[in-house]
Amino acid sequence: MRCSRGARVAKPVAETLAVVNCSQLVTLAGAHRPRTGGDLRQLAIIEDGAMLVREDRIEAVGWRREIETLIDADCELIDAGRRVVMPGFVDAHTHPVFAGIRANEFEQRTAGATYREIAAGGGGIRATVRATRNASQGDLVKAGKRYAEWFLRNGTTTIEAKSGYGLTIEDELKILRAIKQLNQETSLKYVPTFLGAHDIPSEYQSRRQMYVNLVINDMLPRVAEEKLAEYCDVFCEQDVFTTDEAWQILSAARCHGLGLRIHADQLSLSGGAKLAAELNAATADHLEHADATGIAALKSARVQPVLLPGSVYALGSNHYPAAREMIDAGLAVVLATDFNPGSSPTPSIPMTLSLACTQMKMSPAEAIAAATINAAYSLGRGDEIGSLEKGKRADFVIHDASDYRELAYFFGIEHPWRVYAAGNLAYARDQSGE
Ligand code: NIG
Ligand code: FE
Repeated sequence: MRCSRGARVAKPVAETLAVVNCSQLVTLAGAHRPRTGGDLRQLAIIEDGAMLVREDRIEAVGWRREIETLIDADCELIDAGRRVVMPGFVDAHTHPVFAGIRANEFEQRTAGATYREIAAGGGGIRATVRATRNASQGDLVKAGKRYAEWFLRNGTTTIEAKSGYGLTIEDELKILRAIKQLNQETSLKYVPTFLGAHDIPSEYQSRRQMYVNLVINDMLPRVAEEKLAEYCDVFCEQDVFTTDEAWQILSAARCHGLGLRIHADQLSLSGGAKLAAELNAATADHLEHADATGIAALKSARVQPVLLPGSVYALGSNHYPAAREMIDAGLAVVLATDFNPGSSPTPSIPMTLSLACTQMKMSPAEAIAAATINAAYSLGRGDEIGSLEKGKRADFVIHDASDYRELAYFFGIEHPWRVYAAGNLAYARDQSGE
């Protein structure tokens, strides 16, 4: 039997891999639908489980003894060393393509300035728009590759990726093309979202409707024609886009075949959750200020809430979204990082799990389901990723932990020991196998 022990980044790709010696194989197998209520806590863990992978697909998942009978001579054995193995995280809300950083604003907030005040003074999203307009696609890809590595080393294998720092046709297309290039040239998978309505650019300040028309009549047709996005998002908020403007843009996006996501009720109760329900959006994101009526509307329309506690934390607020009320109302909650250079400069889902548990009182199991299988469903990929089940893409992580709860419990460290994307080693903490 020719079995290679331990993984190597530069290994020749074996056709089959067997992952053995897991302390917990956290499969998240279950009903083929987003998880709600008590199902959110069912991680379908196999103690001493094993998994067989053929090329980029999961071939079998089960008890070590069962899987061992399927291992043939050409199979590469991956010894998990009594560690936890689980699906790669799916981060369903990120802004990962931008130029420059905003550490200066971070410092201003430590001195008491608010996110809104900084934005009103020409900083915030507009500061990143200025830098991004001056960057080439190559510059954006170069920066994006650095962030892609951060996602992978924190155990994330798929991200939703928004444009939104261009706000002209050519600059929005440039960002979406950079996302496409990153998808082709990194091990991370990107699901692109057009966010031309992230802010009103300063040159349209006194002509808002003209900018809305530009998004609808010029940007959306180009984005759809070049097939550069699967979703369209709008930042629906006081001083940004009104619910009426968001309705116009999202209705047009739907006519182009795009799915809908909304930045809703983040800084104030702006009506975004109700709008998401009215439009049957896939998701309503943020929801820090959503009220009971908004939550009920999301439930009746089966909209998935995407909660982003990293942005609450990084803005120094304590106004976290009401995750428990949403779970009690039967919503299929998703957790994501909101990675961006302003409100949430973290690519770490484990940090997000920690915040969800300590600040929003989600259990570790609920948080993990929200950042894997539920996130996958929110991106229309519930039958492809988000759990370890036969036929799914072999995106999995061996975490340096023996109990899945450690992912939310130990915070501020990088848990992954090995990360596999589509059956290939995408990140290894070290090369020694230790
Ligand atoms: O999701 N709220 C709008 N967009 C981002 C922030 C983007 C930025 O500050 O650059 C968010 O928090
Ligand atoms: Fe966001």
